[in-house]
This record gives sequence, structure tokens and C-alpha cells, in this order.
Amino acid sequence: MTKTTSLLLIHFSFYTIFLLLFSHANSKLNAEEQAILLNLKQHWQNPQPLRHWTPSNSVSHCYWPEITCTDGSVTGISLPNMTITGTVPPFICDLNNLTAIDLSYNYMTSNGFPTAFYNCSKLVNLDVSQNNFVGKVPDDIHRMAGLRQLNIGGNGFSGNIPASIGRLTELRILKLFACQFNGSFPPEIGNLSNLERLELAYMTTIMPARLPLEFTKLKKLKYLWMAGSSLVGEIPDTIGEMVALEHLDLSRNNLSGNIPSSLFMLKNLSKVFLYINQLSGEIPRVAEALNINVLDLSENDFTGSIPDDFERLTKLSGLSLFFNQLSGKIPDSIGRLPELINLKLFNNNLSGTLPPDLGRYSMLEEFLVLSNKLTGHLPQHLGDNGRLTRVEVSDNNLSGQLPKSLGSCNNLIILRVENNRFSGNIPSGLWTLLSLCKLLLSNNSFTGELPERLSRNLSRLEMSHNKFSGNIPAGLTALPLLTALLLDQNQFSGSLPSHFLSWKSLTTLHLSRNAISGQIPEEFGSLPRLTDLDLSENQLSGQIPLQLGLLKQLDSLNLSSNHLIGKIPNEFENDAFAGSFLNNPRLCANSPSLNIPKCNSKPQNSSKISSTFLASIIGLVIAILLVSAASFFVIRNYLKKKHGLDIKWELTPFQRLNFTESDILPGIIENNVIGSGGSGKVYRVVVNPPREIVAVKRIMNNKRLEQKLEKQFLAEVKILSSIQHTNIVKLRCCIFNDHSKLLVYEYLENRSLDLWLHGESARGSPILAVVGSYGYIAPEYAHTTRVNEKIDVYSFGVILLELTTGRKACDGDEYTSLAEWAWRHFQEGRYVVDACLDEVVKELCYLDEMYGVFELGIICTGPSPLTRPSMKEVLKVLLRCNDQTLVYGEKNTHATLTSTV
Ligand SMILES: *[C@@H]1O[C@H](CO)[C@@H](O)[C@H](O)[C@H]1NC(C)=O
Ligand SMILES: *[C@@H]1O[C@H](CO)[C@@H](O)[C@H](O)[C@H]1NC(C)=O
Ligand SMILES: *[C@@H]1O[C@H](CO)[C@@H](O)[C@H](O)[C@H]1NC(C)=O
Ligand SMILES: *[C@@H]1O[C@H](CO)[C@@H](O)[C@H](O)[C@H]1NC(C)=O
Ligand SMILES: *[C@@H]1O[C@H](CO)[C@@H](O)[C@H](O)[C@H]1NC(C)=O
Ligand SMILES: *[C@@H]1O[C@H](CO)[C@@H](O)[C@H](O)[C@H]1NC(C)=O
Ligand SMILES: *[C@@H]1O[C@H](CO)[C@@H](O)[C@H](O)[C@H]1NC(C)=O
Ligand SMILES: *[C@@H]1O[C@H](CO)[C@@H](O)[C@H](O)[C@H]1NC(C)=O
Repeated sequence: MTKTTSLLLIHFSFYTIFLLLFSHANSKLNAEEQAILLNLKQHWQNPQPLRHWTPSNSVSHCYWPEITCTDGSVTGISLPNMTITGTVPPFICDLNNLTAIDLSYNYMTSNGFPTAFYNCSKLVNLDVSQNNFVGKVPDDIHRMAGLRQLNIGGNGFSGNIPASIGRLTELRILKLFACQFNGSFPPEIGNLSNLERLELAYMTTIMPARLPLEFTKLKKLKYLWMAGSSLVGEIPDTIGEMVALEHLDLSRNNLSGNIPSSLFMLKNLSKVFLYINQLSGEIPRVAEALNINVLDLSENDFTGSIPDDFERLTKLSGLSLFFNQLSGKIPDSIGRLPELINLKLFNNNLSGTLPPDLGRYSMLEEFLVLSNKLTGHLPQHLGDNGRLTRVEVSDNNLSGQLPKSLGSCNNLIILRVENNRFSGNIPSGLWTLLSLCKLLLSNNSFTGELPERLSRNLSRLEMSHNKFSGNIPAGLTALPLLTALLLDQNQFSGSLPSHFLSWKSLTTLHLSRNAISGQIPEEFGSLPRLTDLDLSENQLSGQIPLQLGLLKQLDSLNLSSNHLIGKIPNEFENDAFAGSFLNNPRLCANSPSLNIPKCNSKPQNSSKISSTFLASIIGLVIAILLVSAASFFVIRNYLKKKHGLDIKWELTPFQRLNFTESDILPGIIENNVIGSGGSGKVYRVVVNPPREIVAVKRIMNNKRLEQKLEKQFLAEVKILSSIQHTNIVKLRCCIFNDHSKLLVYEYLENRSLDLWLHGESARGSPILAVVGSYGYIAPEYAHTTRVNEKIDVYSFGVILLELTTGRKACDGDEYTSLAEWAWRHFQEGRYVVDACLDEVVKELCYLDEMYGVFELGIICTGPSPLTRPSMKEVLKVLLRCNDQTLVYGEKNTHATLTSTV
């Protein structure tokens, strides 16, 4: 029997039972109700998922899975995620026994709350969340007096939340999250004395206000979700009167003051999220709140120590107190909590030794205490239960050896112990743990040798500044995912492996300050991603292999202080490599700017060496002068501009240029247009023949840009221009006057942004013209003509979403743009998002980073321009994603990002 037939049979029997149980007593076909349902289907233009809704006078519509009947009459319609477009028709309430309507996750529209529902006089449960409804919720909403559940979240409703909502006194569940309401939260909500669940989160447009005191009158409320809703001031002491409270999420607000101790009198409190606020003072003792399961108070200003009665929290599985100013010792009793899974205490001022029993009694998975002042050893039993996925203890004063048991933690993904005083050998099992992605050991006193075989999944191996010794084994080159290998400042010796088995991902290789001898293998020339190579201060000899010159993407090269001889490859005859070859007395170059002897000149003597040194000092001074001069010109230009003295074109370079504005301007002609977008046209301009081709994007402006905006624009463009990333077109300079701006990019023949993002499937459209087409453009762009930064941030956000999901901007699904599509998935939580990340680039090791970038994309494409970050902030977060000295983007470390919707 096939799966389909068996499924059909199961369905068939289900409906039979259904029929017997509910409809048999009154099985006569209610033809009138069936007609109404068929009209609904037609009104919504026959959505595909409702194709089985067909007229029949033998089979009752009560068998349709979306329909619930009671006594043969329709009482429930459940149509979530049915690709329904259009409005709510008034005749829906002709089904006058309806008690439950679920139209969530569709594409329905209306101007204002659909008052058609008012006529459903028996309505109890109404869910219209995650649609495209906009406009006001009317003041007479209380007419739906029987409602027990109302969910209108994830729509574009705006204006005030009507106070009359407080008159729906039967309500048990009220969800208004992620709408565009302004004004303030009506205190009348506190009159809903039966309310059990209240969701008002991510109301980013609401006026900053205190948590209404009246809400704390809700004696039956179990679930309060007001994350990201502009709350300011203190948490009211009366919160201790909300005796039924189990789940409290006030994260991502601007709350200040202490946590009232009354909060921890609540016996049923289980999940508490107060992260990302400005709460201060000491963390109160847990008193009566012994059911707490997750406590996240991170990213606040708490001081004092971790209360010593936390040992009473026998159900605690997640404790996050990171990014505060907590001091004192971590209570030893924390190590004995039987349910503890995640412990995140990093970036505080904690001192003393770690709880000795950590890992001994619980299934600890994440242990993050980096950036504190901890001393002593790692807990001996830390790895005993084998569940650990992350251990991050860097930037402390820890010493001793790593516990052996870490080597048998088969789930360990990240181990970071850098910047401590650890010593001894690395537990041998660690090297080959298949789960391990990042092993960061730098700045300790570890000893021992590298093994011949290492885990193939390592993506970062950092061992700088230790006492490791021995050879660099060939097995180290057999790591296909390795992106960074830092072995500098150790006692490695012998020669470099001459066969690179697989370093396909390697971008950074630091081997400086060891005792490595022999030649530089020519195979370096075939590392496709290498951008940063440092072999300085070793005993390398022989010539620099010509193949090294083939590394086009190399940004940083240091071969100084070795015994290299001969002429450097021609590709390096370039100022950019001025410091790359110093102190190799027998090395020579043609260009004087490299600060090494000129080829074919007389052999060196010792006085020449010191003149080389002198030359490099002079070079440095000249460089400083140049930088000062450049700043002077930039400032002068800015000042000139500010005073409006100069209406001529001005050029701000972001790189060394071989052209001036007079080379570019003649090329801004119609014949050179290769595309046009929302904000202007793109030209292909040939300058400085025969080589240089640039793409020029012209942004027209009718009015003078405000000075402030101008300055900001320049500053941000400058940062962008300094990013080195293969996926970002390089900005070379900006040319502007009061009316027009020209952004000059490097031109890549037949390569567009689109092409970069979508490889094979690309359409070959011109550079950046893509920005300005459907999917990239912020929704408010329809209402404004001014080119503004927040519109660009939106477009950039779409690009981030494209990179992480592998989808195109216009490719949400049938009815949505990618941004809307992503937002829907985001709402459903981390697991759903993880599942929809691009399979092509998805790596277990980078899941957090990818999620971080996806989330940044979500924030950048927020519907309200006010809540979008500036480009500066975006870059800060992106750089943070990439920065190994800081942990992952803050958000990934919170137990839940969005509480379940
Ligand atoms: C909506 O339906 C599609 C396909 O029918 C499915 O893949 C998706 O998971 C559903 N989403 C929700 C929220 O139910
Ligand atoms: C609603 O239910 C009542 C009895 O439960 C029934 O008499 C009435 O016909 C139903 N209404 C419709 C429109 O079927
Ligand atoms: C409710 O039904 C009455 C009678 O059918 C109709 O006149 C009225 O317009 C309806 N109200 C709404 C809000 O649809
Ligand atoms: C609130 O929104 C309404 C409708 O969008 C708008 O007319 C009103 O000006 C807004 N009020 C405030 C204070 O922003
Ligand atoms: C509802 O709450 C408001 C403000 O909190 C109060 O003024 C009003 O009297 C309450 N209404 C009822 C019916 O309890
Ligand atoms: C607390 O939870 C218990 C167990 O679920 C329940 O019986 C009790 O009624 C709750 N207390 C309050 C005040 O809601
Ligand atoms: C929070 O408060 C700080 C100053 O206390 C302010 O700079 C910031 O803009 C506020 N943030 C929000 C979201 O209100
Ligand atoms: C951190 O703790 C030290 C003492 O261990 C103290 O001197 C210092 O002020 C503390 N710093 C902060 C920011 O609390």
C-alpha cells in the first residue's frame, strides 16, 4: 500500500469518526452555510489550498478539514497560511454560529480593523495575525463582547490602541505585537481581569512610556511579552502583585532602576527576560521565585555579586548575566544546580575561582565566562557529562591544565581559552574532535607539539604566543574548512610542509616569530583565498617563489626578518608592500619604496643596513605628513562646502586614484548609461586609457542636501569604501557639488551585484541598478523623493537577507518580497530560520554568524525607517560578527530572541 493511500485511509477514517461523533445526530446538509463558504472561497479568488471546497449535496462541508461544525452548523473556520488575498467580506458573519475564526498568515488587506466581524455575535476566538491589514482599530472594538482570544499581531495597524479594548472583559488572550501603533499603551488593558496572556512586543512606533501600573492589576496574567516596546523608567514594585505570572519578557527596552525585590516573590515565575535595558543596582535574592527556569538579565548595568541563594533555583536551566558589572566570586553552589544547561556570565568583573563542581551534576552545554577576572583552574569535571558545545573562558587569569575530559566532548563546537595563563599539553582527544570548529588557545603557556592528524572540521586554529614546539605537520594542511591558522610566537621549527593537501578556505596564516627554516613552498601561490600571510622573524631562506605574486587577493604580506635572497616577484613592486620584506639583507627590489636594497646595486655592508632603517623612518614620516595633508584637504573641502563658497565639483578619494574629476565628468553622457535605478543613473566611464574603467552612479538632488546629512553621508561612505570584501563593489571616490553626487566604483565587466549574489541564475543587469528594483526598495520610498540613508539601509538589509537565504529580493513566495518572507520566518523563531538559511553556504560552524547576519537583515528592513539602524551601526554589528575578540552578535547568546508568537 502506498503512503498516499494509507494517508487517505487514515483521513477517511478520521472523518468518519468525526462524523459519527459530532454530526450524526443532525447530519442534514445545511445548504445555506455551504453556499456561504463557497462564496467566501470565491471572494478570495479560489485560493489553491481550498480547491477541495466544492459544492456537494451529499458530502457535508463539515468534513472539510478547515471547518468545525457543532450540531451540523459551522462554528469554526481555520484558514491559517492558505495564501488568501483580499478582504474580509461582510457576509462571513452570515455563518451566525461562528465562534472561532483563524485567518492568520495570509495576505489579507483592509483599511482599518475589519469590522465585518462585529456581526459574528457568538465570536469567541479571532486570529487575524500576520496579514497585511493597515489603518486604525476603531473605538467601538468592544462590541465584540464575547471575545476570549484576540490576535491581530504582525499587521500594519496604526494610530492609537483604543482604550475600549479594556472593555472586552472576557478576554483571556490579547496579542497586539509588532504593529505600527503610536500613542501609548492604554491603562484600561489593566481592566481585563480574566487576561492570561498579553503580547505587546515590538511596538517600535509606540511612544516611550513606563510600564502602566494598571497592568500589574492583572491577577490572572501568566504571560507578559513587551520586548522592544520603548518602555522607560522603573519596573513598578506592584509587579509583585501579579501572582500568576510565569513568563515575563521586558527585554530590549530602556528600563532603568533596580529590579524590585517583589518580582522574586512570585512563586510561579519561570522565565524572566530583562536583557538589553539599563537596569542597575544589585540582583535581588530569589526569595520565593523558586520555579525560575530561565533568567536572562544580560546587557544591563547590574553591580554587586551574584546572589548566593541561586542554589535554591533547582529548576534553573539557563542563566545569562553577561555584559554587566557584576563582581565577586561565582557562588560555588551554581556548580551544583542539577538542571543547568547554559551559563553565560561573560564581560563582567567576576573574580575568584570557578565553582569546582561545574559539569559534575548537570548536563551543561554552554559555559561562557570570558572577559572577567577569574583565577584558578578550570573545574575538573567540566567535560565529564560529554554534553558541552561551547566553552569560552578567554580573557581571565586562569591557569593550570585543561581538563582531560574536554577531549571526549563529542559535541564541542567552540573552545576558547585565549589570554589566560594555562599551561601543559592540550588533551590529546581535542585535536580530533569532529564537532570542533574553533580552537582558540593564544596567549597562554601551552607546551607540546601539533599532532599529525587534526579534525577536518576546524575553521579557526589560533595558538599564537605559547610554547608549542616541534614541526608543522603536513596533516595541518589537510583541513578544507580552515580559514585562519595562527601559530606565531611559538617555538616551531623545521621546514614548512611542501605539499598542501587542502587549504581551500585559508585566508589568514601567521607563522611569525618561530624558528622555521627552509624555503617558502611555491604551493602558497595556489591558495585561492589567502589574504593575510605573515612568515616574518623566522629563518626562511632561498628565493621568494614567483607563484606568490599570483595571489591577487593578498592584502597583507610580511616576510621580514628572514634570510631570503634574490629579487622579489614583480607583483610586489608596489608601495602597498613597503613593510613586507624588511631585514632580509640579500633580498632586492627595483622600486625604492620597498625600503630594501635596489637590485644590481653593490652588495650590502652594515652601514647600508642602518641607512635602510633610516629610510624607513623617513618613509614613515612622509606617510604621516601625507595623511595629515590629506585630512587637511578633506577638512578644507568640507569647510568650503559648509560655507557654500564653492559650487565647483569636488572629489573625495577613498583610495589612491589615477584620475581626477576632470577625467570622469566628460564620461557622464547618455551614451555611457548602463542602467538606471531608483536614485539615479549608472554610467560606464573609461578613464586613464587604456586600462581603468569605472562605474559611476549619479545621485540627483533637487534641493541642497542638508549639511548634517551630507557629513554623515561622507563619513559612512568612507567606512564602506574601506571594507574589503569580495561581495561589495569597491567605492573608489565620491565627486559632488550642491546638486549632484557621483559615486565612483570599480567596474567589473559583466559582473553585477546580482551576479555576485546569485551565481548561475543571474540576469546580468548592470551594477547597482538592481538597487531600485522591486524587493530592494523600502516601502516608504513610494511617499518620498528624497534619497535618504534609511532607504539605503533597507536595500542593504535586503542584500544581507539574500546572502543568507540564497533567495532573490523579489523572491519571497507567491505574494511577498523577500523582506516580508524573512520577517514571517523570523517570527517563528530560531529553528525555522535555521532551516531556511541557504544550504549552499550553511555550515554548522557558522550558523550563529549566519543567523546574526540574517537578523541584521531583518532589522535593516524593518517597516519603519525610524527603527532601522544607521549604516554606521550596521557596520559595527557586521564587524562584530567577524571579530574573534568578541563573542557572536549579542543576540545569539540570549536564550530566546523572540518569545514564541
Ligand atoms: C505554510 O504553508 C507552506 C506550504 O503549504 C508550508 O511550507 C509552511 O511551513 C506553512 N507555514 C506555516 C506558518 O504554517
Ligand atoms: C445555529 O445553531 C442553531 C442551533 O444550535 C440552529 O438552530 C441555527 O440554524 C444555526 N444557524 C445556522 C445559520 O445554521
Ligand atoms: C451587520 O449586519 C447588518 C444586517 O445584515 C448590516 O446592515 C450591517 O452593515 C452589518 N455590519 C457590518 C459592520 O458589517
Ligand atoms: C499616529 O498615527 C496616526 C495615523 O498613522 C497619525 O495620523 C498620527 O499623527 C500619529 N501620531 C503620532 C503622535 O505620531
Ligand atoms: C478601566 O480602567 C480605567 C483606567 O485604568 C478606569 O478609569 C476605569 O474606571 C476602568 N473601567 C472599568 C469599567 O473598570
Ligand atoms: C501556580 O501554579 C500552580 C501549578 O500550575 C497552580 O496550581 C496555581 O494556581 C498557580 N498560582 C497562581 C497564583 O496562579
Ligand atoms: C534609551 O535611553 C538612552 C538614554 O538614556 C537614549 O540615548 C536611547 O535613545 C534610548 N533608547 C530608546 C530605544 O528609547
Ligand atoms: C572590578 O573589580 C575591581 C576589584 O576586583 C575594582 O577595583 C574595579 O573597580 C571593578 N570595576 C568595575 C567596573 O566594577
